[in-house]
Amino acid sequence: MAVALPVADPVAAMQRELRALAEERDAVILAHNYQVPEVQDVADFVGDSLGLSRQAADTAAGTIVFCGVHFMAETASILSPQKTVLLPDLGAGCSLADSITAQELRVWKAEHPGAVVVMYVNTTAEVKAETDYCCTSSNAVKVVEHIWREHGDDTEILFGPDMFLGAYVERVTGRRMTVWMGECHVHAGIRPSDIADVREAYPGAEFLVHPECGCSTSVMEYVAAGDVDAGGVHMLSTGGMLAHARRSDADTFVVATETGMLHPLRAEHPGKRFVAANEAAVCGYMKMITLPKVLAALRDGGDAYTVRVDPELAERARLPIERMVAIAP
Ligand code: 13P
Ligand code: SF4
Repeated sequence: MAVALPVADPVAAMQRELRALAEERDAVILAHNYQVPEVQDVADFVGDSLGLSRQAADTAAGTIVFCGVHFMAETASILSPQKTVLLPDLGAGCSLADSITAQELRVWKAEHPGAVVVMYVNTTAEVKAETDYCCTSSNAVKVVEHIWREHGDDTEILFGPDMFLGAYVERVTGRRMTVWMGECHVHAGIRPSDIADVREAYPGAEFLVHPECGCSTSVMEYVAAGDVDAGGVHMLSTGGMLAHARRSDADTFVVATETGMLHPLRAEHPGKRFVAANEAAVCGYMKMITLPKVLAALRDGGDAYTVRVDPELAERARLPIERMVAIAP
């Protein structure tokens, strides 16, 4: 009788090769929570935008392999200009970052003299260089409150580029800003009707909602109307969702964000149920990063994978990021 030979696992083999190469090349592998599972599983750190920025700034490694999208790798390079930053696919962009250009921001600022500009980190280096403060989904409220405290209650804030995050910050602070009408196509696609459907299917579930979502405003309205228990709704960054699931006693969670987020939640809590608010909420840009591409980036390096930011531009773009980190360390 023929003896069945063990089938080699090509994913595990690639992951082993990648780990060995990372050691040999003094490289750290950072992965966003939306990355495909096999990339998350091989990374040194998996996290949200703010957490990964911190890791990029603090790492002692000479090379950062950034498994995420272009603006994130650019932010890593701005914070660590002496390090080599590799993005396994330089075409991995972001529809939200594309929704405002530096020229558009300059025109907007000229129309609002004296206003303070707050931009989400999902922006290009050129836009950051025109920005006073950066923020992420986890610290946007803190950053905006800081500005009113430090610059005065009458200060006009130009907030962008995400209109849903802007509306969320306005709702929490109870104050108006001037908000850019940009959006992320993935999060904007999670609609109020999605929430209505899953509410019916999973009564009693907790809602973990990313503030970029097109449904975020309506979820807050359900809460205000008493249709959804306020205690069961949590507007969170991707890192905040993980932290919340650790604290909560609930056994079922509806997750309103990019579906990659289900992997770290399920891996950490095998006994709990995590359901996507919309299964189609998949970021094609994030999914452009594959294990073979990560391996090729680290093995071959060079112009095909390296993210470079002009030093003078990087210096201007660093200031709003550093201001953000000082407010929300
Ligand atoms: P956070 O991971 O900071 O919540 O951001 C989500 C996002 O949309 C990144 O593209
Ligand atoms: Fe950009 Fe949206 Fe993709 Fe995040 S999910 S990288 S905001 S397009």
